[in-house]
Amino acid sequence: MAIDLALAGYEPILAPSVPPPEQPLSRLEVLRALRTNVLTAYAADAYRRLSSVGPFFGRRSLLTSDPEAIQHVLVSNPTNYTRTPATFRILRPVIGDGLLLSDGEDWRFQRRTLAPAFTPRAMSIVARVSAEQAAAKLAELQVAAGDGGRVDLLRHMQSLSLEIAARTLFSTTMDQRAGQLRQILERYSRWLGRPYPLDILLPPSWPSPADLARRVYGRRWLHFIAAMVEQRARMAREPDARDLFDLLTEAREAGSGRQFTFAELRDQFATMILAGHETTALTMTWALVLLAQAPAVQEAVAAEAAAVLPAGRPDGDIVKAMPLTQAVVMETLRLFPPAFLIIRAAKAADQVQGIRLQAGDLVSIVPWILHRHEAHWQAPGRFDPRRFLPGAPAPKKGTYLPFGAGPRTCIGAQFALTEAVVVLGELCRHFRLSLDPADEIRPVAVVTTHPDPPPLFTLTPRRQPVAVPPADASAA
Ligand code: HEM
Repeated sequence: MAIDLALAGYEPILAPSVPPPEQPLSRLEVLRALRTNVLTAYAADAYRRLSSVGPFFGRRSLLTSDPEAIQHVLVSNPTNYTRTPATFRILRPVIGDGLLLSDGEDWRFQRRTLAPAFTPRAMSIVARVSAEQAAAKLAELQVAAGDGGRVDLLRHMQSLSLEIAARTLFSTTMDQRAGQLRQILERYSRWLGRPYPLDILLPPSWPSPADLARRVYGRRWLHFIAAMVEQRARMAREPDARDLFDLLTEAREAGSGRQFTFAELRDQFATMILAGHETTALTMTWALVLLAQAPAVQEAVAAEAAAVLPAGRPDGDIVKAMPLTQAVVMETLRLFPPAFLIIRAAKAADQVQGIRLQAGDLVSIVPWILHRHEAHWQAPGRFDPRRFLPGAPAPKKGTYLPFGAGPRTCIGAQFALTEAVVVLGELCRHFRLSLDPADEIRPVAVVTTHPDPPPLFTLTPRRQPVAVPPADASAA
């Protein structure tokens, strides 16, 4: 009720976007878009049609925003679909045989063994670490705000998210290593994590020139992660200060009792850091962009945070306790899904909503398009967190996929939501954030969906405590 009141006069703002081309691009233009901004590769028609089949460099490719087709591929018949050869080329050197790239029995063993580390109880660790690290970041931002300059919050969200991942996983700080790690990761996202034409054109068994560079890079990266795992294994710990390392080293597969080997553990941690930290940092950054452009929502989030966060150490229930902030995060993930593309290759022939697929055909599900599709959303380009408040109708199955769907759905979804809710709440209750309306903010997607150039925020410390809403604030 109180949230509805706080947002009663809010006119949803138009979120930043990229105008789609009216006509389909040529093959050369598509190849260029794959390395510069995939969002420009989809013509306007894609936001109106449910499915289309076309050629994609020697393969057939189904692009679908049809919820039934998506349910079929990801949920009803997922074992017939695998990741594409290009995905393996790009990711295998850096995440080895971790959960994301494994398949069949091996995947089942890993998923079952990892599951206990991602239960709501385990999220208390994430909530606690996020609150501690947000507090440290606030102190840093107070100084930056005091200098009067504008602040690149993307850079701050990246370092914060990395620190939260490292402390949640290994109870170790990134202080010493953060610079080196970010350098390694930047080289990956800027060069090797992007698909080169030969990655797509060469047969899977032929190494591309980029593959050789990825192997060298991957050895360095996995060595770095192994050193962190070893350091953590040697650390003396307080008995009550558990982290995900404890949960994963103790974890055994139900039934078989099998545990992770050292190499398997290393690959899981490499996967968690790569799959988890940039995606969450981008979610928080996009949410801050939207909140800066929609001050009424920002004030309501600040009020919710002021009512909930000072009460004590947040635990795994914090997301439920902050329904408006959660709705802001979910609406941000609709408008700017960091994982903008979910792509699969068919292992065998299949029939998808009347479309016949052959083995090797590709299926592209593009959350960026799906979430802005005219058939599924009213005013799709507008930022309106009310869509996700308790009591609002849930999106139709297969239309909202920021974390994927089916058995391969993101294992870290609750981790990301917990971190984002705590960090956004803390930022909004301590600062009023604004952007210069003259600054253009362009969404660009290559590995993930990021704002380009990084937005520069003005942070004004809140002197007065934020008005606390009445006690029934969470009962929207
Ligand atoms: C906002 C943040 C995040 C977003 C948008 C996101 C998105 C996704 C998506 C869309 C998938 C499914 C991909 C597919 O089906 O092809 C996925 C899988 C995965 N994510 Fe996330 N993710 C996020 C945060 C995290 C975090 C924090 C972690 C770990 C700590 C994580 C670990 C993983 C792993 C291991 C998989 C593979 C699951 C499997 O194949 O069984 N993600 N993620």
